Amino acid sequence: MTTLAIDNIGQLATGDPNTGSGPLGVLEDAAVVIEDGRIAAIERANTVDADEVIDAGERAVIPGFVDSHTHLVFAGDRAHEFALRMAGRRYEAGGIRVTTEATRTAGAEALRQLARRRRREALRAGITHQEIKSGYGLSVQSEELICQVASELTDDVTFLGAHAVPGEYDGRADDYVELVRGPMLQACAPHARWIDVFCEQGAFDADQSRAVLEAGREAGLGLRVHANQLGEGPGVQLAVELGAASADHCTYLADADVDALASGTTVATFLPATDFSTREPYPDARRVIDAGARVALATNTNPGSSYTTSMSFVLALAVRDMRMTVEEALLAATSGGAAALRRDDVGRIAPGARADLVVLDAPSYEHLVYRPGVPLIAATIARGRVEWLDPDLSRD
Ligand code: NIG
Repeated sequence: MTTLAIDNIGQLATGDPNTGSGPLGVLEDAAVVIEDGRIAAIERANTVDADEVIDAGERAVIPGFVDSHTHLVFAGDRAHEFALRMAGRRYEAGGIRVTTEATRTAGAEALRQLARRRRREALRAGITHQEIKSGYGLSVQSEELICQVASELTDDVTFLGAHAVPGEYDGRADDYVELVRGPMLQACAPHARWIDVFCEQGAFDADQSRAVLEAGREAGLGLRVHANQLGEGPGVQLAVELGAASADHCTYLADADVDALASGTTVATFLPATDFSTREPYPDARRVIDAGARVALATNTNPGSSYTTSMSFVLALAVRDMRMTVEEALLAATSGGAAALRRDDVGRIAPGARADLVVLDAPSYEHLVYRPGVPLIAATIARGRVEWLDPDLSRD
């Protein structure tokens, strides 16, 4: 078995407060030893012996980002819709049908290549683990294909047949819900770990959302909900009531929603790149955190409301505009994402955890927010594999 070490780390933010100082468990002058895709040990710098060594040159190392909300498998382009929005048009999610049309006609191989390219882009941005949703097929055959393609890239696939009512079901939303809960779920469940529903005015109401989620649970899937994105509504409270792992968006929250999140086990996942790209207000993260709820940050990579794979950008928005501390934001994008996916093997650097880590081209993690828009990911290691390495870093 070969070992890989990341040595000469100036600042190691382990994400585990029991390992080092502060909420991020920071160690100085450290080395991480990797064996068989897992973290084998954390040592003092320049004391390790391994088959292969990457010299971090006193740079900072953080856990790989855990992106718990993406829609990576799609075809087509909606740049013009974005431009219209910037000129004043409101986002209403109607573009889901545009992407659905392009995705249905793309063909399996083209979809696979597009998704792989986006996965590589995300790795280059330091995202070592990703949840991937379906939701741009909206027919049994197309949703199944999307779930299949997604399952080649992650073990956190989410079936989102209830993303929108497709054109052929206009005026027959309840019939479409029956399709989603029946044959579509049956075809997609073998490829998926989760089921999700877009619970929002203009998408699926509380009864339809409940029906979809309950069928998914019956089929053995965990629950997630697109909730309270474009206005207050029943999504968050439904998610908490049904014990969903995550309520995503949480842009418009009533006091009762915040209370529900604080008293339940559902993670509030914020997607501020979406609020940026749709000109919605940013979620009131302080209110949710101060009430005691668990939070995550994710990119929501999709062609309509958030076409970015930059978690660094998400962190900058969370700190600048949602008033999260840098430490809260980094934890939300790593162990918070892991909690939203009910995993403890990712999101922190600790012996036994998956060897998912990122070397920053910076002396401290604060630079991620301090230097917005600058590509600071010098190396991405996922499952112990070097997926991206800046030529400035030496590997012996
Ligand atoms: O999470 N809101 C629903 N789904 C996606 C956007 C879909 C689209 O506009 O294509 C989201 O923002």
